[in-house]
Amino acid sequence: MKRLDGKTALITGAARGIGFAYAKAYVREGARVAIADINIARAREAAAELGEAAIAIDMDVTRQESIDAGVAEAVDKLGRIDILINNAALFTAAPIVEITREDYDKVFAVNFTGAVFTLQAVAKHMISRGGGGKIINMASQAGRRGEALVAVYCATKAAIISFTQSAGLDLIKYGINVNAIAPGVVDGEHWDGVDGFFAKLEHKEPGEKKKEVGLGVPYGRMGKAEDLTGMAIFLATSEADYIVSQCFNVDGGQWMS
Ligand SMILES: NC(=O)c1ccc[n+]([C@@H]2O[C@H](COP(=O)([O-])OP(=O)(O)OC[C@H]3O[C@@H](n4cnc5c(N)ncnc54)[C@H](O)[C@@H]3O)[C@@H](O)[C@H]2O)c1
Repeated sequence: MKRLDGKTALITGAARGIGFAYAKAYVREGARVAIADINIARAREAAAELGEAAIAIDMDVTRQESIDAGVAEAVDKLGRIDILINNAALFTAAPIVEITREDYDKVFAVNFTGAVFTLQAVAKHMISRGGGGKIINMASQAGRRGEALVAVYCATKAAIISFTQSAGLDLIKYGINVNAIAPGVVDGEHWDGVDGFFAKLEHKEPGEKKKEVGLGVPYGRMGKAEDLTGMAIFLATSEADYIVSQCFNVDGGQWMS
């Protein structure tokens, strides 16, 4: 018996990185998954790699009509949604006096507003069909404290932690568990981008920031997407039924809370 046998999951931003690792792990555990991403070409490749248990969904979490259509398509093709992982996000960095409204709006629209209204659309589905569900929001160690050059991204993740607490309290009466995962520094394309920001802002060589942050992790290295899958599986099972509104650090010992 696999741990997610018969379950269905919608994972946003799952065309690559951590979201794709979640999709792979869920399929391995017997679930069928909808890989929802704004990069539909990459989402299709990702779904093809996972075979019949995965479908690709063209979804832009910054547009309500796209969220509604994506959720409806997932329900239509998978039959229902038992698990949502709100994973899509963008990164940005700038000194406080150089933050632009354009950048602020873009990053909040994906990381926070997108997560709020995707959660809402899926929660409505879960409530109307009954039987509860599991919702996992992707937070970050960045949401646990500030960072001089990363104010906007940090604020989106702090907002995710707060929203997880409130949504969890409101939705548990329907048997819907809302929790969050806070990774530390996870190597991959996301962090290639982060490294690029710091190369510019701190005049570092490409790859230098990555090396530094890896050395700073108590475990001894940066995380891999696969380091996060155990928590994402656990939170989606009935073993996590009594866990409500929490945010779990999976970060090699970076943060304690
Ligand atoms: N990588 C890390 O070190 C790290 C650390 C802490 C938290 N996180 C969080 O984990 C999650 C996954 O991170 P990752 O490293 O895999 O990121 P990533 O950049 O590799 O993947 C993000 C995915 O989101 C998609 N996306 C972007 N905008 C979208 C939109 N409007 N609608 C739908 N999809 C959209 C992208 O196409 C991409 O496939 C994010 O929430 C991120 O903030 C990552």
